[in-house]
Amino acid sequence: MIVAANFKTNLTRIETGEYLGELESLVGKIEENVQVRIFPATSSLIAHRGEAVVGTQNAYPAQSGAFTGEIGVVHLEEFGIKSILVGHSERRHIMHESQVDIAKKFDFFKERGFEIIYCIGEPLRTKEQGLEATLEYLDAQFEGIDLEYGRLIVAYEPVWAIGSGLTPTLEEIESVHKALKTRFSAPLLYGGSVKVSNAREIMELPSVDGVLVGSGALRVEDFFTMIQTAREIENQN
Ligand code: 13P
Repeated sequence: MIVAANFKTNLTRIETGEYLGELESLVGKIEENVQVRIFPATSSLIAHRGEAVVGTQNAYPAQSGAFTGEIGVVHLEEFGIKSILVGHSERRHIMHESQVDIAKKFDFFKERGFEIIYCIGEPLRTKEQGLEATLEYLDAQFEGIDLEYGRLIVAYEPVWAIGSGLTPTLEEIESVHKALKTRFSAPLLYGGSVKVSNAREIMELPSVDGVLVGSGALRVEDFFTMIQTAREIENQN
């Protein structure tokens, strides 16, 4: 099970350091099959050793160069970061990253051996058209993406479920995940309004290999509770 936190534009460097310190002391040594990932804001990236692996929410596909406002691989290497989110809906819809940009970014970080959490998700109007329309929309987000990549993790995050407090029904998650799992063998996470109160039922779904949590992870106690839940589920299996 993979339990990942996307801090988005929250938590400063100092707060992120405190969070990680507290999380490590709560978590202790993870022996179960549970992996923890933390994606802080760019200016809060930290060189960290522990059970939680720190990754980046974004980076420009370049080693370094003239890309004002962006960071490149050299900046990630400084912190030993080898994990990245690609294709997050906020980057697609707010920053207007196109599928072509996203596929280029994917290839760049793939060539450098990064773990890539590749995010996909449909808007509400597509969801309302049913499963077939949803899968068609999601398939278009796989254009140019190597689904055979060995360090790939996919995160299904319906756009309308992100930050809204709304989640698909368990049946809806299961049917989208089941269909997606016929397309690749990479682990498949669910994201979108995951919180302590629904994390267990979501992680217990057979087709869910973990969760990608935004606002529900900002309190370290809550994120720790979700890690504990993942441990319990792994122990039952
Ligand atoms: P929320 O958990 O805040 O809905 O965000 C989900 C998300 O976008 C994680 O990447």
